[in-house]
Amino acid sequence: MLANRKILIGVSGSIAAYKTIQLVRLLIKQGAEVKVVMTEAAKDFVSPLVLATLSKNEVLTDMFQENTWSNHVALGRWADLMLIAPLSCNTLAKMANGHCDNLLLSVYLSATCPVMVAPAMDEDMWHHAATIRNIKTLQQDGITVVQPGHGELASGLFGDGRMEEPENLLTAIDDFFRKGKATLTGKKVLITAGPTREAIDPVRFIGNHSSGKMGIALAQECQARGAEVTLVLGPVDLPARYEGMTIIQVTSADEMYNACHDHFQNADIAILAAAVADYKPEKISEEKIKKEAAATPELKLVKTKDILKSLGAIKDERQLLIGFALETQNEKANALEKLKSKNADFIVLNSLKDGAAFGSDHNKITIFSKAGAEVAFDQKSKAAVAADIIDTVTAGESTITV
Ligand code: CTP
Repeated sequence: MLANRKILIGVSGSIAAYKTIQLVRLLIKQGAEVKVVMTEAAKDFVSPLVLATLSKNEVLTDMFQENTWSNHVALGRWADLMLIAPLSCNTLAKMANGHCDNLLLSVYLSATCPVMVAPAMDEDMWHHAATIRNIKTLQQDGITVVQPGHGELASGLFGDGRMEEPENLLTAIDDFFRKGKATLTGKKVLITAGPTREAIDPVRFIGNHSSGKMGIALAQECQARGAEVTLVLGPVDLPARYEGMTIIQVTSADEMYNACHDHFQNADIAILAAAVADYKPEKISEEKIKKEAAATPELKLVKTKDILKSLGAIKDERQLLIGFALETQNEKANALEKLKSKNADFIVLNSLKDGAAFGSDHNKITIFSKAGAEVAFDQKSKAAVAADIIDTVTAGESTITV
């Protein structure tokens, strides 16, 4: 569930910061992307170098670093989740009152993603009326508080206030992403992703800029929800985590068509996110076309087979078929036309005009259903978009709000 999730860790000044090192390691192991923001005081407890090395990202502490302004708004927008661990008594009080005198607090105040905190303090501080009031304020502000545990404290006393252990924080983050998520246990999901390449001769092809990231994010989301995933993947070069997934690597639209037809019958859900070439050269030259040839070559193109349409024609009642529509104009009309003509249950529209970009880590989508529902989403990371798509298509058409 954490693969490709973007987690922003805020570290404030507490002895428990040593546990954050282990947390960052665990998150990275799970395939999450991690960035760290620290307060000045936190640097007394843990070295930014350690966290930078483990997270593979620069650790930010100042609004201004080496003459550059750290864009706190961009950080808050980058993340799928911000976790402040450890949350010191001082940072808690500032957050509860909207103070903004360091980078961590600026990121917190401008974060558009959900925020979690893992408090760490001595028992008497934890039970102080001011702390109780501040924690309540945070909860009223929609912040998830991971309650501290009971045990030995930095003061040598035993009591409440120990920051939750890294393994349990990892579970809390995982649970957070799973909350309310439909499970796909026992379901078989077929997904296409990436571009196709249509050979002109042994060295040239017609292709497109698709990165495959959206389809791969969908495959990971379905797998995380327990599905058995078959990913038919066009030629992309991504360091993806594929363990446990069946990957069928293809190059051309014809190969993708064949792979999809081989696996569609067994599938409960098919999601066609690939950018399939619509045309291919009528003939593939066996030898490299030389420029000395008498005339400039003319490329005669023929249509490729429409995979989505062909699956729509054979799908049965129990199967869910989801297609994508990438448009540059008349977005809604074109998406609805594709929904109908290809007999899909849902069409996910992304418009190049709307910030969707090949290779980008973000996407902004609208989902149209056969039943006439239309659900628009904000721009989000592709992992979060994948979760939205799966939530929507598994929610049942009757529960979708227009
Ligand atoms: N698709 C497909 N086989 C093709 C072309 C497209 O399965 N030969 C699928 C895509 O994977 C996507 C949907 O059809 O799920 C729509 O693709 P898109 O490129 O937006 O539209 P086209 O049908 O190709 O039409 P046009 O290029 O005219 O917009």
